[in-house]
Amino acid sequence: MEKRQELYAGKAKSVFRTDDPDKMVLVFRDDTSAFDGKKVEQLNRKGMVNNKFNAFIMQKLEDAGIPTHFESLLSDNESLVKRLDMMPVECVVRNVAAGSLCRRLGVEEGAKLTPPTFELFLKNDELGDPMINESHVESFGWAEATHLAEAKTLTYKVNDVLKALFAEGGMTLVDYKLEFGIFDGKVVLGDEFSPDGCRLWDAKTNEKLDKDRFRQGLGGVIEAYEDVGRRIGIDFDA
Ligand code: C5P
Repeated sequence: MEKRQELYAGKAKSVFRTDDPDKMVLVFRDDTSAFDGKKVEQLNRKGMVNNKFNAFIMQKLEDAGIPTHFESLLSDNESLVKRLDMMPVECVVRNVAAGSLCRRLGVEEGAKLTPPTFELFLKNDELGDPMINESHVESFGWAEATHLAEAKTLTYKVNDVLKALFAEGGMTLVDYKLEFGIFDGKVVLGDEFSPDGCRLWDAKTNEKLDKDRFRQGLGGVIEAYEDVGRRIGIDFDA
């Protein structure tokens, strides 16, 4: 496999073509951004930590029968993935109220959500990723209705797998964002799963162990990501 030209540079990852049209290389950078790119910093080791974190989680999800784009780790900060035709939507499940849900609905942070909520956001930086619903996706042709339904089913399935995984490590999976795409006509999980795109709290103290440490200027961001990883069995030195 040969890495070719850059296809796209996102806020924290870059995507490169390979000599195989069906495969791409994801490069996890140390860049950390929040508030639609208004706060950006370089955090040492973040690319390596998120790359290995994502590889571990994607493998766990594959083992549970959830199709993902992940193929293999290539280096400390690079992974080989399938090239998907991405749906321009973000799927968010929440087990506990936090973040934009609290701001939007005036709910207190920490309120348990039973059953968990499912929300959709349009991936559009200029519009600030507005919240949308399933009928918008269908009417504007952002995804086929059957594909969206499958993405929703898979998003909930991920919740069952990861809630249990993090609980074993003494953590609460508060919420998370997933992105899906199509490969060979099938809905497949793409993008990444790392503490950048989810909220994780220590189950006893409710200490924040995710990107909210960066958003809220709490410090110890990468130390917290590594702590989360070690608590679920990731060896970052491997
Ligand atoms: O900001 P909000 O509360 O809606 O975020 C819900 C979850 O989705 C959080 O875990 C957040 O980190 C994640 N998210 C993300 N990328 C976005 C928006 C939200 O990873 N663009």
